[in-house]
Amino acid sequence: MYVLGIESTCDETAASVVLDGKKILSNIIQSQTEIHEGFGGVFPEFAAREHQKILFTIIDQALTEAGISMNQIDLIAVARGPGLIGSILMGLQGAKILSLSLQKPLIGVNHIEAHIYAAMMDSSPVFPSLGLVLSGGHTNISHMPSFGKYTNISTTVDDAIGEAFDKVGSLLGIPYPGGAKVEKIAEQGDAYSYPFKPAKVKNAPLAFSFSGLKTAVSYALKKETTLTDQIRADIAASFQRAAFDAIKEKISLALTQYESKAIYLGGGVTGNQYFRELMKKCFSLPIHFPKKELCMDNAAMIAGLGYQLFQKQGSDPLTVGAEPRIPLG
Ligand code: KG4
Ligand code: ZN
Repeated sequence: MYVLGIESTCDETAASVVLDGKKILSNIIQSQTEIHEGFGGVFPEFAAREHQKILFTIIDQALTEAGISMNQIDLIAVARGPGLIGSILMGLQGAKILSLSLQKPLIGVNHIEAHIYAAMMDSSPVFPSLGLVLSGGHTNISHMPSFGKYTNISTTVDDAIGEAFDKVGSLLGIPYPGGAKVEKIAEQGDAYSYPFKPAKVKNAPLAFSFSGLKTAVSYALKKETTLTDQIRADIAASFQRAAFDAIKEKISLALTQYESKAIYLGGGVTGNQYFRELMKKCFSLPIHFPKKELCMDNAAMIAGLGYQLFQKQGSDPLTVGAEPRIPLG
């Protein structure tokens, strides 16, 4: 079954063709980084306008690269949230137009669930397991007793981890989104030169908090009279260590409370190589990361999960709505 995936929940316009939920025939991602760079975050109105402008060009590219025509598509899968409402609507409306005009079934997909599915595309998933989403908008741990079932066991009480990377990036003079560049700078730094620590949340041992860590970075920067490249690298490395220690600690705790045979991770932050190595070093159970190109927002994970959901529950009506906030499960 050929599935066309469409993703537009934030600032990436993406389209992909995936065969039978696993084989990626094309994966086109157009990022709007340059448009939002100067704003220190995504400017929602501009994001929606850009999606509207380029969506059908990106879909065309995905079909061309896959070597198939629109008529050969068997299902249209689209991210219906969570995300920015204006941005989601652009992809959803586009998907509905195609579904109606070509008489092809439509399915709405939860973008967060798709980030976890991205880590399942290379193998057959095992359950029960843990699913983690670490991105610019989410820091979640879910327990998954079986495919498509989620119990949310941990989230952040303030910033998402990617947001913390972006804010620290901006304190270090890196334009939005700074996560990948913070990792790059950190390679030259000493991760123990600043005593940053993962935060604890009172009465919620599994919950994350990153705003205190970001404030600690900002105080450390204020104390420095001259900001040399080495100091920036040391601060970046110490921040990165503390941020990922928080993830490691909560996973360790979750594993004592929830039976798990494997861990599946997804979201932009899971592209971080330091984190990948830390996870492999610290845990003995199987840990599955998506391919690097499937960590950030993409439509292959939407098409892949759309296929699986369609097998289980069939298609959605044309009335399927955009949801800026949807829980997992
Ligand atoms: O999943 P994603 O593309 O979009 C959201 O759904 O948010 O994640 C984007 C986030 C940004 O905050 C970005 O700075 C962060 O992922 N990110 C990273 C790395 N690459 C991207 N954070 C840390 N290390 C990286 N290598
Ligand atoms: Zn995402």
